[in-house]
Amino acid sequence: MQTQDPPGTVGPLDTIVRAMAGSHGLDISRYEEAFLRAAISRRMEASGVATLAAYGEHLEQSAPEAGRLFRSLRIDHSEFFRNPLTFAVLEKLILPGLVAGKGQCGSGEVRVWSAGCASGQEAWSLAMLLEDMAGPVPYRIFATDLADPDAARAGFYHAGELGNVRLRHLTKYFSEQDDSFSIVPRLRDRVDFSAYDLLDSSSASPAASIYGGFDLILCCNVLFYYRPEARQRILDKLSRALSPGGYFVTGEAEKAMVAGQKTFRAVLQPAAIFQTKNVSP
Ligand SMILES: C[S@@+](CC[C@H](N)C(=O)[O-])C[C@H]1O[C@@H](n2cnc3c(N)ncnc32)[C@H](O)[C@@H]1O
Repeated sequence: MQTQDPPGTVGPLDTIVRAMAGSHGLDISRYEEAFLRAAISRRMEASGVATLAAYGEHLEQSAPEAGRLFRSLRIDHSEFFRNPLTFAVLEKLILPGLVAGKGQCGSGEVRVWSAGCASGQEAWSLAMLLEDMAGPVPYRIFATDLADPDAARAGFYHAGELGNVRLRHLTKYFSEQDDSFSIVPRLRDRVDFSAYDLLDSSSASPAASIYGGFDLILCCNVLFYYRPEARQRILDKLSRALSPGGYFVTGEAEKAMVAGQKTFRAVLQPAAIFQTKNVSP
């Protein structure tokens, strides 16, 4: 199977990029090349097509195949409390500090953005931890994904998806309905789900958040999709959306991509948690 363009040519990969822009409005030229080629290669094999050029032609003529490639490029797996070390540091160190800080100044709310929330587990995990400790200090979580995260907002999960959820959280924050578990209304009131493209250069943060100013942003298992330029645009946007001294959390496999950023310092080396360096005096 040949997934490389001959050097110096306008290759069949461009045909595929154009086809996906035409069929789904998706600019796949921003994706990390190895990730893109691996996904295309899997689709070529499944379609019984031997060359990239032939696959490009096939894609231009077949809407169902364009849909299949589109879906294979959407990695939307998520889990509750996905990275245990990161969530332990958030629970024991970061969130209590944020809640205490807001309590001391007697105003404001803890503001969190779960950027690339997929089916919502990350946002709900944070809501459980904040609800455990917030007391009189309000908090709000903005959770966004490329398309409207309606499944995340619905907040229904099968028992098999609740692996990392503690019994205490299960009984307090879920109600059981038939064979699924539903997030309770008091957590729902705290999380706002919306569509938001992190590469959209026309806005700085989700419209519902009005002005950004986040104390904590999670962008986990999203950056690895993208080429370095696109990744940098996302990181620049998110670091600007943080309050001075705000925290940034990324995926276990993405730590090295953030570690080299001038605007962040690592909070606790093994955890994928960073803090903005421009802490106000
Ligand atoms: C693998 S899931 C990660 C879910 C969750 N953050 C976690 O770590 O469990 C990646 C999500 O990022 C979203 N995503 C990818 N590119 C995005 C972009 N440019 N803007 C917003 N969301 C994006 C995808 O749609 C997908 O739902």
